[in-house]
Amino acid sequence: MHRVLITDNLSPAGLKVLEETDGIEVDVRSGLSPEQVREALHDADGIIIRSGTKLTPELLAGQPRLKVIVRAGVGVDNIDLAAATREGIVVMNTPAGNTTSTAEHTIAMMMALSRNIGPASQSMREGRWDRKKYTGTQLAGKTVGVMGLGRIGQSVARRCRGLEMTVLGYDPFISEEKAAEQGIELYRDLDEMITKVDYLTVHTPLTDETRGVINAARIATMRQGVRIINCARGGIVDENDLADAIESGQVAGAALDVFSSEPPPEDSRLRSLPQVLCTPHLGASTDEAQEQVALEAAEIITAYLLRGE
Ligand code: NAD
Ligand code: MLT
Repeated sequence: MHRVLITDNLSPAGLKVLEETDGIEVDVRSGLSPEQVREALHDADGIIIRSGTKLTPELLAGQPRLKVIVRAGVGVDNIDLAAATREGIVVMNTPAGNTTSTAEHTIAMMMALSRNIGPASQSMREGRWDRKKYTGTQLAGKTVGVMGLGRIGQSVARRCRGLEMTVLGYDPFISEEKAAEQGIELYRDLDEMITKVDYLTVHTPLTDETRGVINAARIATMRQGVRIINCARGGIVDENDLADAIESGQVAGAALDVFSSEPPPEDSRLRSLPQVLCTPHLGASTDEAQEQVALEAAEIITAYLLRGE
């Protein structure tokens, strides 16, 4: 029997596949402390996680039975890849299952930010009828810059084109042809692109190159009243610099689904600024995306453990 530990919420469809697979035994445990995860890993051949479980070097050391980690989702930044490699543990993800849902969430955030949906809804709940206060801005005719033109960035870019926006993109790795096919005006220089946009949306992983890449110095070169959206990873946009720029009026508003520390502290400045729309890391939280990533995770972990594929 191969034992698969699951420490974050996994859609029932994925659990069913695992439970019905001969040779696989499932151990579902949520809300574990790091120490409890370490202990549970002693008896696991594989583990499936989302973003809630952090697999640090301390947890991965001394786990001779553990062969494979599967991330039901895209980002593997909650797994210490160097430690996994050192310990001979394979790491896999399910990269495509939540692309559409995350792109849709980005567009929802962009629209809600432009039309003050969050504060206007809250004001009505509080008994007010403030029509003038919540006048918004139209997306059609505006220019959006998409930083990172991978699966989600391209999907967002296509949707922005459908909204009659001019779409600029920055990604050092995508081909000119691929960008042109999708009506994206490609830039190889981030500093050049960001001076031309009304909206900036980031869709890269968080790496040494992207951490804090949207910072005070860059924000200062952007158009006054720019709006910034981050549905990728907290920390790509420097949070303190963003809060300063919103307070100074350089940035008109921001929509954030991800934070450098999750959950962000209750007294974080970004949580309290009225120009900031926040969601608690919901980009991939749809029934469809969760079912898709859970099914893919179940398939790849069973293929690896049972057939070495
Ligand atoms: P992807 O790998 O398909 O695309 C990432 C793109 O970023 C690639 O095209 C790559 O060339 C580009 N890139 C890398 N470094 C760059 C740099 N320094 N400057 C510009 N571009 C750079 O990944 P994806 O599936 O599109 O996911 C994008 C991000 O969204 C990831 O951080 C992922 O973890 C995150 N994500 C968040 C949610 C959520 O719930 N909010 C859901 C899914 C994915
Ligand atoms: C991802 O990287 O896939 C997202 O952060 C969504 C998730 O939390 O699974």
